[in-house]
Amino acid sequence: MYEQVSHTLLNDILNDIKPEISEQDLRHFYTRLGANFYGIHSLFHTLYGEREDFAEQAQQLVETMAQHYIKRPEKLRQLDLAREKDYNWFLSQQWIGMALYCKGFAGNLQGLQERLHYFQELGVNLVHVMPILRCPEGSSDGGYAVSDFREINPEVGTLEDLQQLAAEMKKRDILLVLDVVVNHTSNMHYWAKRAKAGEKKYQDYYYTFETRNVPDMFDQTMPEIFPETAPGNFTWSEEMGRWVMTVFNDFQWDLNYSNPSVFIEMLNIILFWANQGADILRLDAVAFLWKKIGSTCQNEREAHLILQLLKDCCQVTAPGVVFIAEAIVAPVEVIKYFGEDAVIAKECEIAYNATFMALLWDAVATKNACLLNHGIKSLPVKLDRATWLNYVRCHDDIGLGFDDRDILLCDYEPARHRKFLIDYFTGKFEKSHARGLPFGQNAKTGDARISGSLASLVGLEHALEIGDNKAVDDAVKLILLLHSMILSFGGIPLLYYGDEIGTLNDDSYRDDPYKKGDTRWVHRPSIDWEKAELRNTPGTVEYGVFSALKRMIAIRKEIEVFADFNNRELIEVENPHLFVFGRYHIQKPTEQVLVIANFSNQPQHLNLDDLGSWGAKYRPLVDLYQGTHPDIFKNSLVIPGFGFYWLCER
Ligand code: GLC
Ligand code: GLC
Repeated sequence: MYEQVSHTLLNDILNDIKPEISEQDLRHFYTRLGANFYGIHSLFHTLYGEREDFAEQAQQLVETMAQHYIKRPEKLRQLDLAREKDYNWFLSQQWIGMALYCKGFAGNLQGLQERLHYFQELGVNLVHVMPILRCPEGSSDGGYAVSDFREINPEVGTLEDLQQLAAEMKKRDILLVLDVVVNHTSNMHYWAKRAKAGEKKYQDYYYTFETRNVPDMFDQTMPEIFPETAPGNFTWSEEMGRWVMTVFNDFQWDLNYSNPSVFIEMLNIILFWANQGADILRLDAVAFLWKKIGSTCQNEREAHLILQLLKDCCQVTAPGVVFIAEAIVAPVEVIKYFGEDAVIAKECEIAYNATFMALLWDAVATKNACLLNHGIKSLPVKLDRATWLNYVRCHDDIGLGFDDRDILLCDYEPARHRKFLIDYFTGKFEKSHARGLPFGQNAKTGDARISGSLASLVGLEHALEIGDNKAVDDAVKLILLLHSMILSFGGIPLLYYGDEIGTLNDDSYRDDPYKKGDTRWVHRPSIDWEKAELRNTPGTVEYGVFSALKRMIAIRKEIEVFADFNNRELIEVENPHLFVFGRYHIQKPTEQVLVIANFSNQPQHLNLDDLGSWGAKYRPLVDLYQGTHPDIFKNSLVIPGFGFYWLCER
């Protein structure tokens, strides 16, 4: 869009631009800058327009983008152009993700590179390497308390190792996902150290206060994220002699985005990692980016403006790079992180589908799909050209963030139902063999979340211990059922390392003084590669899970209707144990797949009349996964206990 005010500013900026920039051939850069500048200017102005130094800040913003464009390797620039052309590239059903800790998976970055064949064996072609940057030992929050945004933790390797890994992954068509922890830094970060030393410039990078007045005001409305280990949202810094905002742990200082220097620094870091070869950047804890007195300080409008601005700027320098929003918030809020508009107000192309994840766990505990059905029905339709990251487990806890109204629709009382779920997954409920642990218990609100590995949560640990083969089989079926959901729902499935071979809880974190206070470590394993070899031995759990997932993944990649173009229809059926939806091809209407999941351990039947136009009553159906016809007796289709179907017409 052409508009006078922003265009005049852009002319001024280009007139004054540093010679080392103006001397370069920046054709594509300028085209994109021109196209996006109206948006960039209006967002930057809304956020920082009041400031006297606005024009200088804008100048610096543009120079930051230009400098990274100049440094962007030619290969990545070519990739940008290719992805501009093939702009739906990330919506394809071909992508299968896995998230992992480099150290736990392979020791270090070189080890990870040596294990790339493992991903290819399984069919994984998108790997989220969780934070590998320098963090203070003992107060690292699993890598999310970064003390240097450009330096790799020497325990896992060097920047060169990462560049090599990225290059090798590109060769093998595996996408690299890296984190940028945008909301906070470690209290040992250079900026925090300078703030502690009394430098006003760096104190302004954070929210610091002399007295408790403002902190007390904030604390009235801000929830606590880690109520047990880090109650409250502020920490007294003895060295600085001031209170500092610390929403997560007391060693994680929240960045102050009302300061444009913070925005520019973080953009700088985002573009730096884009230039190291990351295809996708996961922006951590984005719901928290803007703080406002009287609010929960989550999902504020300005947090969205910041993300839109980051996106607009990144599109100028590195348009091939897409963002993942890590916003574990209510369904109506999550959806907003894709942006308000697919073109003019874009934020992150991908977002964690925490709603679906939590609903799946509800179905596991209740053995029915009532809440799952209601929850998905209330999930707002997302923008075009935006996609979910669908997952069963990740490195974090499982939060029970359902909408109370949906819980009521199932005739459960919300508080009691949540308590049941906690009891179920921590094994307190008498019929449960889950081995989860509570996380984030809050005595004041009664809230709690759940830690635990997938396999231990579905009862595999218990079943193996008592040597009950039927129970082992059921646990494996549940693991596969859950994966069949994330592989077919629409979006990028994100497996969690270790789950593909049924890895159990790892209790060793209890012996580590730095970890024992955080139960999430129970599900952040170190892979036992000898045990992983069992994936080749029929009859083992490792084989059962790995080979089945491998098959499911291979099939998904072949089925175009599994690509995510908002081409899913939820189908309500009589039988409460079943979750049923259809996927259709937006261009070829006859191509469709009917997905049926049975969350009960008993066989269940589905009345074909319930399926409406999806019911292939007089046509033969075949299950893509097993390659067989489902059992149909008269009008009833029978689904085995913990079974699933991906049905299409044959
Ligand atoms: C993100 C991470 C989580 C971390 C938190 C604070 O949510 O996933 O592990 O504790 O941010 O950085
Ligand atoms: C909260 C936050 C999320 C974070 C998690 C860590 O759910 O919203 O961002 O990952 O806590 O446990």
